[in-house]
Amino acid sequence: MKKETIHPAKHLTGGLDLPGDKSVSHRYAMLAGLAEGTSELRHFSAAADCHSTLACMSALGAEVKSDKDTVRVTGRGLSGLKSSWRALDAGNSGTTMRLLSGILAGQSFSSKLTGDSSLQKRPMKRVIGPLREMGADIRARDDNFAPLEIRGGKLKAIDYQMPMASAQVKSAVLLAGLFADGVTSVTEPARTRDHTELALEEFGASIEKDGRTIRIHGLANAKGGGKLLGKSLDVPGDLSSAVFFIAAASLFPDSNVLIHNVGLNPTRTAILDVFASMGASIQIGVIAGEQIPLVIDELPMLAALGPYTEEGIEIRDAAELRVKESDRIAALVENLRRMGASVEERPDGLKVQGRSAGKLRGAEIEPRGDHRIAMAFAVAGLAAEGNTVIRDADCAGVSFPTFFQELNRLSER
Ligand code: S3P
Repeated sequence: MKKETIHPAKHLTGGLDLPGDKSVSHRYAMLAGLAEGTSELRHFSAAADCHSTLACMSALGAEVKSDKDTVRVTGRGLSGLKSSWRALDAGNSGTTMRLLSGILAGQSFSSKLTGDSSLQKRPMKRVIGPLREMGADIRARDDNFAPLEIRGGKLKAIDYQMPMASAQVKSAVLLAGLFADGVTSVTEPARTRDHTELALEEFGASIEKDGRTIRIHGLANAKGGGKLLGKSLDVPGDLSSAVFFIAAASLFPDSNVLIHNVGLNPTRTAILDVFASMGASIQIGVIAGEQIPLVIDELPMLAALGPYTEEGIEIRDAAELRVKESDRIAALVENLRRMGASVEERPDGLKVQGRSAGKLRGAEIEPRGDHRIAMAFAVAGLAAEGNTVIRDADCAGVSFPTFFQELNRLSER
């Protein structure tokens, strides 16, 4: 397990190219595998998570060829996937497991889906419930955890009132809806990222939106033989990766970082409003309510910036953070305290004291195998007193394999 040492920096300077968006890459890879013909996916994410999705699609019979960051996927059509003789491995990726569950629920064969030790601790009941309502037969450890055994079959359309604001759950139901008879709908309690809806439309599915409700017309059994068609697509740069560099630049007034080709889907850009409202003096304050799902992956970075802000940061209504790649509330509290910050842990968030509580000092960080915790504390370490050591730094590769190289390249000391 590799350690990375972060030395204090004076500022950040230079240009940055981002990996392709992780959320978009997952969806394109899955839909390309269900489409007819070959899709060319340019600037496909380098993230280990997205390569887990490609490996699963390949095990299900899609042809996958990668050349640098261009991936060509030849799909098998909506009813052409075949069963994999071994368990499909989603690695560390919740998106792979939850979205693929929706697709596998509609197949005429059984599949086993597993993942690494972190993923095996994350709740899957949230997708098992609605997929069972649609008619799938799913077995899981303690009825909630991977490995999952999914016996697919004929699905019926449902109207699903989603109890939590989760793009992954919404996506699983919509993808299963492709295979259902009739129109499936999902109503979300708060807005979440809409990459699945957009990608489904891109590949030729019929989607309708009405406020917080999204409807999909079943295609696989449609009269007239509905189908998805292979596409040639560019994946935009991943804003959630850019955020670590925007945060790092915000720590040093004379930084100058130019980030190229960032995806600006409106369900992802709320973080830019947060940064804009921080202004030159980096104030933050409270983040809560309907803001939370729109900045869910950015909360580790914001919390780790807390001690550098005027007012500190308070995060509420974010209990979902406890079931991400790690219990992110506990991981943030532990590591912020290691660096000397003053933090209060809450069931659904945390409160971090700002600048007046004193300067952070370098420490040894335990990211608990969570990429976003490792990257957030690497950035926090740039402005701390003394060196910060990130244990198990390779875990950043789950979303951003070149993160430490790039951070080092842009940091001037
Ligand atoms: C994602 C949805 C979010 C997010 C995750 C990626 C997606 O998860 O945290 O990193 O691609 O749909 P939830 O749906 O669990 O909120």
